[in-house]
Amino acid sequence: MPLKIIRNDITKLECDAIVNAANSTLLGGGGVDGAIHKAAGKGLLIECMKLGGCKPGNAKVTSAYNLPCKYVIHTVGPKWRGGDYGEKAVLASCYRTCLNLAVENKCESVAFPLISSGIYGYPKDQALKVAVDIISGFLLENDILVYIVVFDKSAYQISEKLFTDIASYIDDKYVEKRFYARFRRQPEQQRSQVYPSAAFDESRIMEESDDSAVSSFDDTVIAETTILPPVPAPKALKQSFSLSSVSLDEMISQIDESFSQMLLRKIDEKGMTDAECYKKANIDRKLFSKIRNDVNYKPSKTTAIAFAISLELSLPETKDLLMKAGYALSRSNKFDIIIEYFISKGIYNVFEINEALFAFDQSLLGY
Ligand code: AR6
Repeated sequence: MPLKIIRNDITKLECDAIVNAANSTLLGGGGVDGAIHKAAGKGLLIECMKLGGCKPGNAKVTSAYNLPCKYVIHTVGPKWRGGDYGEKAVLASCYRTCLNLAVENKCESVAFPLISSGIYGYPKDQALKVAVDIISGFLLENDILVYIVVFDKSAYQISEKLFTDIASYIDDKYVEKRFYARFRRQPEQQRSQVYPSAAFDESRIMEESDDSAVSSFDDTVIAETTILPPVPAPKALKQSFSLSSVSLDEMISQIDESFSQMLLRKIDEKGMTDAECYKKANIDRKLFSKIRNDVNYKPSKTTAIAFAISLELSLPETKDLLMKAGYALSRSNKFDIIIEYFISKGIYNVFEINEALFAFDQSLLGY
């Protein structure tokens, strides 16, 4: 099952277990610990008093009392002391122990805050990397839905180098946007020289959405964000049909390979098993079976790209696979450019790409 990064208050989640970033007394504190104890009520503190504390890197389970989840898994992260005191190993152990406890308690879903990244001072980008590495490795062997819950945007950081690298890549590649801005400034007469027919319709170009907002990401809209060629007039269309000796029925009968067929073919060609492919794509097993069993299945754009990444397709191959599902990769929106950035660098780790997409307020791959 997949890893989802979401923005929320962990105390509001209705999943099977939530993880508490506690201290070694397990008797409550500030940050997420304080919020969890406050929302759970006194019963939680009373149960915690019987646990005899907990060592850094370890974890203990309690009931959840007034919280909407079933269990709270209390873990103690490392205090950041510069990075040379085994902090990373302790933090990794927190995630591993909590995940194992969730599975032992038959949880189908578990939510983590970014352990140690608040009061304990672990650098946020490194704390996130440890979380994603351990969780994604665990998901290759286990079937459980995992959330990383980010409380507020400032609590979430990818490495500064990656962020600036992607930001400048986006800046370089926003070709259509610049073209369109120039184009709009031209007088009407000059515009019609570029698009001589009346077919150029400004409403067919979607202006870039507000960067500050989390994109709600409508796949259909994204597929339309490139500047489209002029639409042939109905008369011309009619002519081309009557001139052709091939009937519409015949043309339809020669329909190309579908998305599902191409996906399954590529999985075989790459020598992967189905499970390897959907897990690496951060895709749920049930969704994969739907795609497998329906030759005409139309995936969302984020799902289609997740498979392209999992299969380590080149950029032209990715575009080909996307086209089968009716999508494109354009230079008119950030999401597409970020995907292009990672493929062009040969980075095919869906989780790493999702970290970057989240940092740029874009929809995430997979699920
Ligand atoms: N939901 C999700 N994430 C949250 C929430 C929330 N309601 N509240 C805070 N966070 P911290 P630590 C994020 O300080 O660094 C306590 O006093 C927060 O933005 O809660 O492991 C304990 O008793 C940050 O990214 O935990 C310990 O003494 C992350 O949760 C000490 O703090 C963890 O921040 C543990 O420090």
